[in-house]
This record gives sequence, structure tokens and C-alpha cells, in this order.
Amino acid sequence: MAEVIVVGSRSAAGALVAEAIERLVQQRPDAVLGLATGDTPLPVYRALAERVRAGLDLSRVRGFALDEYVGLPVTHPESYHAVIARQVTGPLGLEPAAVHVPDGRPLGIETAGERYEDAILAAGGVDLQLLGIGTDGHIGFNEPGSSFASLTRVKTLTRQTREDNARFFDDVEQVPVHSITQGLGTILRARRLVLLAFGRGKARAVAAAVEGPLTASVPASAIQLHPRATVVVDEEAAAELAELEYYRDAFAQKPIWDPIIL
Ligand code: GLP
Repeated sequence: MAEVIVVGSRSAAGALVAEAIERLVQQRPDAVLGLATGDTPLPVYRALAERVRAGLDLSRVRGFALDEYVGLPVTHPESYHAVIARQVTGPLGLEPAAVHVPDGRPLGIETAGERYEDAILAAGGVDLQLLGIGTDGHIGFNEPGSSFASLTRVKTLTRQTREDNARFFDDVEQVPVHSITQGLGTILRARRLVLLAFGRGKARAVAAAVEGPLTASVPASAIQLHPRATVVVDEEAAAELAELEYYRDAFAQKPIWDPIIL
């Protein structure tokens, strides 16, 4: 099962995960990070940026974003190319050429998934994959029903996801209908998974992902198949976990030889 860590605040979550990433980069300066977009990973990026200002060197770190909208120009401020450049590559001092985002341009979209998979394999795979979770249990843009074996491909977004993401656009009709996303199979190949979730709105999806049956109807339940998955949640997002006391206890009793996340 995934290790569940309940934290007091988003910034505490950010600090915890940033520390693990710093340890990873100390061991492996050219580590490969799997990058998520959305509000959820922002505390991690902020905490990492602080560490960079304090001297941490991430210039050799490589990155692969989870997903991108199809047909949204990369110059659009809400394209994930633009979001990753603004929130990650710039503030963390990564080398832009080493940060990859799926190619959502309609021309050549049929082969874009395969090209992205090849690039991940050529980089030696993802060391640590950051994940958020959609209110419908999606990770990346793997909507309910996505195969656990799926690789990077085009997915049609659900109405729910488009409504959730409408806040980044003028209105829901401006949210693209299609995305290109790493598949659940791609995500499961990463060597470590760290799923973050904050707020009451994520509680049901988190409980279903961590404790519910393994089902394509809750794509995030795929994390149960991963041997090294950590779920970092605030109290609100933890609210529907049946085994919450056990997770708290396990964390409090964590053996000294068992580091947090890494
Ligand atoms: C989008 C992204 C996901 C993200 C989800 C949740 O659909 N493709 O990667 O996890 O939104 O977003 P937020 O973190 O803003 O709640």
C-alpha cells in the first residue's frame, strides 16, 4: 500500500517533498523528475525554489511533465509548456532543453505519445514522479476508465475536469477538449511516486485511490500497484480515509532507517 503522510499545511507538505528531492539530487545530480501541473504541486516548487536560492543546484536535473492540452498554442499562458516554464524551469534554474512536455500540436499528434515515451526511456526513466489528483480520481489526464497499462496518448477530457480547470480560462468552453497525457503504465514505471492532495474537495478521490478497490474507474488507484508510493495530504484531504489512525501511527513509529519518501 501507499505510505500516507498527513501534514498540517500545504507548506509543510512542500517542505517535506522538497527535502526528499534535495536528497535525491545529492545522490544523483542529473535526476529525472516527473512534473505535475495544477495548484497542488506549487508548495513543492516554492520550497525547492527557496532551497535553490539557498544554494541547491538543480541545473543538471531533467524533467518530464505529465501532460499537455491538445491544440492550445505553447505561447498560451495556460498551456502546460508555459506553466512548467513559469512555475518550474525558471524558478528552479533547470536547463530548459532538459525539461520536456508532451507535444500537443495537432500536426503529428498521432506519433507524439510514442515520441514522448521514447524520450523518457532515453533519459533512463523517471526517478521521482510528482502527482496531483483530480476530483474524479484522475492522475495526469488519465480520466476514469483509463487502462492501467496505458502509455502516453491522447485522452478526451471529462466535463468534470474541464469544469475544474475552467478557472484557468475565461470559461469552460475555452478549456480544450483533448489532452496528451502520460499513461498509467508510464506513471507506474517511475521509481518513486509522490501524490499530493489538499482540501476537502479531494477527500473522496484520495480515499478511493488509497483504500478503494483497484479499478480503472479511479485511475489514481493504480498507485496501489506501485511498490514505492507516498501520499502526502492535509487533514481535509485525509478526512475520508478509513485507516487514518493507522497511517498516523505508522508515520509516528517510522523506523529511523526508513527515510521519508527517499
Ligand atoms: C489537472 C492536471 C492534473 C492535476 C489535476 C488537479 O487535471 N492535469 O495533473 O493533478 O488537474 O489539479 P489541482 O492540483 O489544481 O487540483
